[in-house]
Amino acid sequence: MADDATDELKKLEGQAQTHLQQCADEAALRAWNTQYFGDKGLVKAALAKLSTIPKEQRGTYGKEVNRVKEDLTRAYDAALASAKAAALQASLTANPLDVSLPGRGRPRGRLHPATQILRQIYTIFADLGFQVYRTREVETDELNFEFLNMPAHHPARDMWDTFFTTTPGVVLRTHTSPGQIHVMREAAGKPIRVILPGMCYRNEAISTRSEIQFYQVEGLVIGEGVTMADLKGTITAFARRMFGPERRVRIRSSYFPFTEPSIEVDIDWPKDDPNRDRLTKGTGWLEILGAGMVHPNVLRAGGYDPDKVTGFAFGMGPQRMLMLKHAIDDIRLFWQNELRFLRQF
Ligand code: PHE
Repeated sequence: MADDATDELKKLEGQAQTHLQQCADEAALRAWNTQYFGDKGLVKAALAKLSTIPKEQRGTYGKEVNRVKEDLTRAYDAALASAKAAALQASLTANPLDVSLPGRGRPRGRLHPATQILRQIYTIFADLGFQVYRTREVETDELNFEFLNMPAHHPARDMWDTFFTTTPGVVLRTHTSPGQIHVMREAAGKPIRVILPGMCYRNEAISTRSEIQFYQVEGLVIGEGVTMADLKGTITAFARRMFGPERRVRIRSSYFPFTEPSIEVDIDWPKDDPNRDRLTKGTGWLEILGAGMVHPNVLRAGGYDPDKVTGFAFGMGPQRMLMLKHAIDDIRLFWQNELRFLRQF
């Protein structure tokens, strides 16, 4: 009985080894493994037979069956490893992988250039002690014009081509200046030092130089003894931070109904910039904003007493500054969502 069993074991081993050598790939090896080492596998059956062997021969049979099991396991592990290596080698040759190719980058979002310049402006004015104050884009005729010293039929209204809504007396703000009135009324007589950034709308024929929507940043300072010198100093400090420390600031007299006196401010353009002539129309100077001392009528409309306080205001076009900084010659690029343009910033 024991001898029969041992013979059977030998046969099983020989058959398993032959069989193993015939396995061409990993799948065949796995099938082999199930056939011999699975729950109903032949090696398992041979092990189970141990209990049927007479006691005195059980030791010999046991040793032998364990040796067969270990040899076959080792042979299987080795065959599996070399099948895997062969498969890898085959796939590397069939689909060669160029490890020197650059990886596929993840596209990253970024801030719109207009947002970037707005944030630069906030930073500079924050350092000068200004707070950011936001007001609405839809305004009443009163706030956009009337309280800014432009009664109905005032010819200065022509300076702002206006979008009127279907509600009488309601317009899209043509500038951020109505925000001056909102701040003054909220501050209710206290000193003010704010900037008011936001979108403005003008009913213009769209061209490379004008858009129907654009950003403005208004500035307003009110307090006792605020003078034109403060305005000049503030604008100069701003221009140097924004455009470079050597920039000179030129002030020209101008006209706005809500400031008196009114000025426009230019900065000199670097002499070595090849775009200088084109950007400054040959003058070397570039206008960056309108400004002035707040008109007494505007102070009154905001609830301040022009005999006690004075103030200055300015309004700048951040996109215009950006165009000048980067020699962008078409303002329409800002809202076209053209990625080739936006990715440059
Ligand atoms: N609101 C003016 C404009 O849109 C600019 C400005 C603001 C001028 C404040 C003077 C004071 O052109």
